[in-house]
Amino acid sequence: MRSLDFPTNKTSPPRLYPAFSGDLKVYDYQGDSWLILFSHPKDYTPVCTTELGQAAIEHAEFTKRNVKLMALSCDSVEDHKGWILDIAAANGGEVKYPIISDPKRDIAALLGMLDEDEKEAPGLPATVRKVFVVGPDRKIKLQLVYPTAVGRNFAEIFRVIDALQLAAKFPIATPVNWVPGKDVMIQPTVSDADAEAKFPGFKRTAVPSGKGYIRMTPTPQ
Ligand code: BEZ
Repeated sequence: MRSLDFPTNKTSPPRLYPAFSGDLKVYDYQGDSWLILFSHPKDYTPVCTTELGQAAIEHAEFTKRNVKLMALSCDSVEDHKGWILDIAAANGGEVKYPIISDPKRDIAALLGMLDEDEKEAPGLPATVRKVFVVGPDRKIKLQLVYPTAVGRNFAEIFRVIDALQLAAKFPIATPVNWVPGKDVMIQPTVSDADAEAKFPGFKRTAVPSGKGYIRMTPTPQ
């Protein structure tokens, strides 16, 4: 997928809070980590408050996976400053990751978080709940898009991070409803000889076609 191109040449670069109340280069912040950029319809809204709170509570789980978080909400830095106090009070998690303030919705429009034609409309349109998972190579590995009415599921976010990180290390793919610890599938591009060398004792699922393309192996370490 393409890399995450932020409008670095804009006159008003992203404003960030709380770790960086000022301008920040996204890739400096990301460093060698994975990055999750997740957008929100609006400050001081109930579902978003739970989402940012959950992200704060899960800080150790993200750190364990070498993932840094960055949120985006179109409201002002002042609103963000007040809102994080509500987030902490309502959920018990202190927001330690930056929240981009994007009042003109330049970034939201650029990253497909709202309709470009309407980006100057006062108060509207709301930013959708989008999640970008960006690899250490700066490439977008995965996108999730939820409507305003549906809050995200952090168990699913951790599941896809675990699957992405595994597939970045090994020539495998994860099957339907995979969760960590369950068997994974050897990618079709891997020859049987390589598969045997890399995943000794892998199991082939018999299918009527006899093609033998379903090759399962325990989660590699
Ligand atoms: C919310 O986060 O609660 C929300 C935001 C915009 C529309 C509906 C719900």
